[in-house]
Amino acid sequence: MKITVCVGTGGVGKTSVAAAMALKEAQAGEKCLVLTTDPALRLRTALGLKDGLLEQRVPLSDTKGELWAALMDVNATLDDAVRFHAKTSDQEKILNHPIYRSIASSMAGMQELMSIERIDQLRRRGFDNIVIDTAPSRHALDTFDKPVLFADFSDSGKVRFVSRTYKFAEALGLTTIGRSALEVYSRAESILGAGMVRSILDFYSLFHPVAEGYSDRARNTVSMLRDPAVTEFRVVTIPGKAVRDAGFFLDALKQRRFPTGMICVNRTWLHDTPDSAPEGLPTRLLDWYRAVKNSHLLAIRELNEKFAGDVREIRVLRELDRDVEGVQSLVYLAEQLGMPIRATA
Ligand SMILES: Nc1ncnc2c1ncn2[C@@H]1O[C@H](COP(=O)(O)OP(=O)(O)O)[C@@H](O)[C@H]1O
Ligand SMILES: [Mg+2]
Repeated sequence: MKITVCVGTGGVGKTSVAAAMALKEAQAGEKCLVLTTDPALRLRTALGLKDGLLEQRVPLSDTKGELWAALMDVNATLDDAVRFHAKTSDQEKILNHPIYRSIASSMAGMQELMSIERIDQLRRRGFDNIVIDTAPSRHALDTFDKPVLFADFSDSGKVRFVSRTYKFAEALGLTTIGRSALEVYSRAESILGAGMVRSILDFYSLFHPVAEGYSDRARNTVSMLRDPAVTEFRVVTIPGKAVRDAGFFLDALKQRRFPTGMICVNRTWLHDTPDSAPEGLPTRLLDWYRAVKNSHLLAIRELNEKFAGDVREIRVLRELDRDVEGVQSLVYLAEQLGMPIRATA
C-alpha cells in the first residue's frame, strides 16, 4: 500500500491535484482513494461527496482501476472506530450515549486525532493507494504532531486513569471511601449532578477499548507516514508562491522526518503562444500573457535551482481553460501528471 500526502497553502489547487493524483493511479489499474478536507463545491459534486458517508466510488469509464473519494468527517470516523474496536454488545450503547456526540464536537484537536484514525481505517479497507489532501494551511502538519503528542500523553499515566471506570473513580478518590473522598464525590455531584457523574463513569467504561487502542494505532500510522517505502509527501503550490512554499514545507517535513518526493507547481501559464496576436485579440493581451508566462518560467527555474536536490521530481501542471469542475478536468490534470514535463526557462 502507498500513501501520498499533499500539503500546501489554501487556493493553490491542492484538493484538485490530490484528486487527479488518485485518478492517475486508478487509471494505472489501482484501487485508490482521495481523502479530502475541504473540497470546493464543484469538485465535491464531481466526486459525489456527501457528509456522513465514509467513502464513495467515483463512476469512471475506460478506467482499469477504481477511484474512491471520502471526506474527512470527524463524527463518521469516530463512529467507525467504535464499530471496529468496541465490544459488539457495547456499540449501540456507546453510539447512543448522551456524552458520545459531545466528545467529537467539544474536544480540541479532534479533527487531527481522527485524521490519523481515518488513515488506519482506510489501510484496513484494501486500498492500494490513499491520497490525502491536508487542511489548507501552513499548520496542516499539526495533523501529524497532535496524535503523537496525544499518544505520549495518554501513555504517561496522567490520562490512563480516565480509561477505566474504576481507575477514574480511583483518581477521584472514590475507592477508598474516606471522609475526604466522600467530600470530593459529593462536590463533583453537586457541580455536575449525580446523573452526570454516573453517566461519565458509565461512558468511560464502555468507551475505553476504543480510546485505549488509539495511541498504538496513532503511533503505527505515524511511523508508516515516516517510511519512504510507504509514504510520499508532495508540496502543491503555484508559481508566485513556489519558492516560498517549497522552502517552508520542505523544512517543516524534514524536521518531522517525513519523506518528501515531489513539488507540484499548479496553474502555470506555459501554453504555446503565437508569434503575433490572432485576429481580434489585442496585442497587449498577448504581451501580458507572455510577461506572466515569463515570470512563471523564472519561478520554476529558481525552484529547480534551489530544491531539485531535495525531491525526486518537480512537476508542473498547467492552468486549465476553466475551473476544475468535473471528472473530465481531473482527467486533464492527471494527463499532465503523467507527462515528464520539466520546464526549463
Ligand atoms: N490547473 C488549474 N486550472 C484552473 N483552475 C484550477 C486549477 N487547479 C485548481 N483550480 C481552481 O482553483 C480553485 C481552488 O482549487 P482547490 O483544488 O479547491 O484548491 P485548494 O484545495 O488548494 O484550496 C478552484 O476553483 C479550482 O477549480
Ligand atoms: Mg482544498
